[in-house]
Amino acid sequence: MRTLRTIAAVRAHVAAARQAGRSVALVPTMGAFHAGHEALMRAAREQCDDVVVSLFVNPAQFDEPGDLAGYPRSEARDAAVAAELGIDALFAPAVGEIYPAGFATTVRVGGLADVLEGAERGARHFDGVCTVVCRLFGIVAPDVAFFGQKDAQQVVVIRRMLRDLAIPVRLEVVPTVREPDGLALSSRNARLDAAERDRATALARGLEAVRAAVEDGERDAAAAIAAGRAAMATDGVQPEYLAIVDPDTLDEAATVSGRVLVVVAARVGPARLIDNVLIDTEQVTTPL
Ligand code: PAJ
Repeated sequence: MRTLRTIAAVRAHVAAARQAGRSVALVPTMGAFHAGHEALMRAAREQCDDVVVSLFVNPAQFDEPGDLAGYPRSEARDAAVAAELGIDALFAPAVGEIYPAGFATTVRVGGLADVLEGAERGARHFDGVCTVVCRLFGIVAPDVAFFGQKDAQQVVVIRRMLRDLAIPVRLEVVPTVREPDGLALSSRNARLDAAERDRATALARGLEAVRAAVEDGERDAAAAIAAGRAAMATDGVQPEYLAIVDPDTLDEAATVSGRVLVVVAARVGPARLIDNVLIDTEQVTTPL
């Protein structure tokens, strides 16, 4: 596996792959790899000939300075993990390579970026995500890009950006990887002490309670959400939001019917955690 630092080096790598008729995948990450990132890399490795993984802690998408400063960084270990998984190239640029002097463009997806995470963290968050993902797509020009269902709103926002800007990249969404007790893997979990780590399962438990209510026939969204809130309250966790939304528009649903996305965010100790689950009232669902 090659570690590349410059746009020119990535372009040369991808041009050689294209010359050889190879399909190209991009897995955008901010590093500190865990099994969630590994699932994305494995899926990319299976589906495409040449896999580029980007590792860039994107300052533009952090809304709290402490969050950026405290973000875990472990490039040497990450490179070893990626190499082990058969990744072809790790693109780990310096901040100046992504945001050179005079950088002046922001990619903003109206509406979708302003609700849920956008409302809690500020609109700058998804502006930062979209701007960097757009630039990474411009640099790598992959056939397919891999994202995690864990960040469901990120997928919805990026999908709309691709459509609106006619960017010819196919999105592959990989299911959320969880700990055995249901906690979704996240680099932020590392900040939890043992007691907080236990309480953090409240998010998955809340989602599970919403789903159980729907499976029991509840179709009133407010009532299903109340069941989820009650389950979280037993762990002493109060969600910033717990909502049932349309999986494409993120509009809140008053009744649960067809495919819906249940999203939750909560602070547990020093960490702000998010999770989600897709429910389809037309189909039998599998446990988290
Ligand atoms: P990061 O948080 O490093 O996540 C990189 C990718 O891993 C994202 O697509 C995310 O959804 C996925 N991921 C994280 N935890 C997961 C889990 N438990 N199961 C499955 N997939 C998981 O998301 C970002 O970085 C950034 O916003 C980025 C897209 C790289 C732009 O800077």
